[in-house]
Amino acid sequence: MQNQKIELPYFDQLFEDIRQGKTEVIKSFGHHVHWGYWQNPTTADGSIDDFANAAENLTRRVCDAGGASDGQRILDCGCGFGGTIASLSDRFTNMHLVGLNIDPRQLQRAKELVQPRNSNHIEFVEGDACQLPFADNSFDLVLAVECIFHFPSRQKFFQEAWRVLKPGGKLALCDFVPQEAFLPFMQLGSYFIKPFLSNFFGYVDSNITLTAYRSLAQTTGFTSILEEDITLNTLPTYPFLRQLQSTGENAQPDNSTVMAEWVSRLQLIRYLILSYQKHVES
Ligand SMILES: C[S@@+](CC[C@H](N)C(=O)[O-])C[C@H]1O[C@@H](n2cnc3c(N)ncnc32)[C@H](O)[C@@H]1O
Repeated sequence: MQNQKIELPYFDQLFEDIRQGKTEVIKSFGHHVHWGYWQNPTTADGSIDDFANAAENLTRRVCDAGGASDGQRILDCGCGFGGTIASLSDRFTNMHLVGLNIDPRQLQRAKELVQPRNSNHIEFVEGDACQLPFADNSFDLVLAVECIFHFPSRQKFFQEAWRVLKPGGKLALCDFVPQEAFLPFMQLGSYFIKPFLSNFFGYVDSNITLTAYRSLAQTTGFTSILEEDITLNTLPTYPFLRQLQSTGENAQPDNSTVMAEWVSRLQLIRYLILSYQKHVES
């Protein structure tokens, strides 16, 4: 299937840093490409190892929210460099794990980095999360770790996840979700901020509230099983990013990350883990 080319400037930057062998970037974002999760945020020490550990913890929280367990067929949409697939393969056995990404460069790196363990089977497939190239009722769990805001349509993604899940199967994701009262400011702000945001992060849509998620889940045929606010647990990511961005010859603070830090500290935008179950047909 031919996918539309997607612009992700931060991945272009990541590939350039990897090519240049920047070990601090490779260790922190060369495996997982998402925020960290600290059970106790006061213990964050700003080191690269601490951040890498926190990034692994975030993946585990999302997989656990979806009830990942031995023997399942799991689809990780927007799989990045395959960090979540590797984590699942380390923790569980006899799984069929599929990582899907729209960007073939990332898939190439994932294939080089991630080897199956514990009698698991791993595949990396090029595709759009909103047009899944898989049969109906074929997965126990669909994941979207910190990527749904890039997808062309959440509605289409939920419909596709529902279609490929077996009855009783689960969808688990994490996302930046604005508070109800902040949404109008977000929408207004997005209009002005979009050019800056897209210069670094590419297409991002963070204009969905928790109420809208609930309604989307219900109309798609999902039951909500978990809504967990982990904003405070992710905050040490921001000083870590500032520190990382301040090193090197072309050090430039990225404005969109600075803005994301403030709206997160004020909890105007919350970082949520959400999970859903496809209704079992009666
Ligand atoms: C922030 S990264 C997260 C990567 C990975 N989930 C992780 O946590 O390490 C966002 C990912 O979404 C992928 N992506 C963006 N739009 C997509 C789409 N329409 N279909 C599939 N993947 C997409 C990007 O290529 C990128 O790998």
